[in-house]
Amino acid sequence: MLLKSFSIRVCMPKHTETVLITGGLGQVGYYTYLHLKNQYNICILDNLSSSKVEVPDDVTFIQNDIQNKASYENLPKIDFIVHTAAQISVNQSVSNPIFDAKNNILGTLQLLEYAKDAKVKRFIHISSAATYGEPVFLPITEDHPRNPKSPYGLSKLVSEKYVRLYSQLYNLETVVLIPFNIYSPLQNADDHYAGVIFKFIEAIKKGIQYTIYGDGKQTRDFIHVKDVARAIDMSLKSKSAANQIVNIGSGVPYSINELSSNLLKLSKSVIQPLQSKAREGDIYESYCSIQKAQKILGFALSIPIETGLSEILKSI
Ligand SMILES: NC(=O)c1ccc[n+]([C@@H]2O[C@H](COP(=O)([O-])OP(=O)(O)OC[C@H]3O[C@@H](n4cnc5c(N)ncnc54)[C@H](O)[C@@H]3O)[C@@H](O)[C@H]2O)c1
Repeated sequence: MLLKSFSIRVCMPKHTETVLITGGLGQVGYYTYLHLKNQYNICILDNLSSSKVEVPDDVTFIQNDIQNKASYENLPKIDFIVHTAAQISVNQSVSNPIFDAKNNILGTLQLLEYAKDAKVKRFIHISSAATYGEPVFLPITEDHPRNPKSPYGLSKLVSEKYVRLYSQLYNLETVVLIPFNIYSPLQNADDHYAGVIFKFIEAIKKGIQYTIYGDGKQTRDFIHVKDVARAIDMSLKSKSAANQIVNIGSGVPYSINELSSNLLKLSKSVIQPLQSKAREGDIYESYCSIQKAQKILGFALSIPIETGLSEILKSI
């Protein structure tokens, strides 16, 4: 049931252009706000379903659902949209695929209807590496087949396709970013993308053993959320990014064994991790090509994983 009544708090504009960040109180949305707030007026639309932070003082805030048409009625003039709001739990998408599809597909569609009518200058859509599914080749490029393995991956793919369709039908300028495994001090243990970092750190801090599944040689492509926010900023500005799909990651495979040994080294811990058999359905190797991001956005990683991990070790 969507909220009929909702709260809105208006903030006086300081800049000439305004960015609407959906999901602006979540991990990616909040760091995007921090990165953009000195360049644009920021408006946040969030229903608080998985928010990680309080509402900042210097934003216009609408507490409502992206699926609700009323959410858009009292917005100031919006120049750009950064769409991060989504249901991101794979487990929840399996147990409640209808909720997942409504939130991610119908929510995106309602937002696109608004973007089309408001004639926004550019729509940045945050898709997901989950849309690729099991890698057929590595590194994963943007033309890699898309065979999602979960209702979440599928709902993210369908919403991305709606974004592309609106771009073709209505001349809405869009950029689709496909982030890989985002980590930050705001993530939690349930996060299927980078929750492993949180789990290992939590165990290290408590001085207890944690489990490495399989041989530990499985890889992921971890990227700090601040680098994702930089890529979003570049996507707002780069002319050549218009209507493109672009991977965002480090471009480097990082194994669970490397993650474990680096965290133990950084925290000077002597814990011996436990080994257990591989989990069914887990993707073994995954990392992306960031050549397109380098070429059309001028993107390069600014936070090496060891730096990001030390920051998180201090903050969690
Ligand atoms: N976390 C990752 O590693 C990762 C990787 C690839 C892609 N992504 C994508 O990045 C985006 C942001 O992910 P995140 O890690 O910041 O998630 P998050 O759960 O931290 O943030 C999502 C935010 O959106 C809000 N929200 C959710 N549904 C909403 C709705 N229907 N209406 C209004 N607000 C709603 C939540 O309250 C929350 O504040 C998602 O689209 C996700 O699919 C994330």
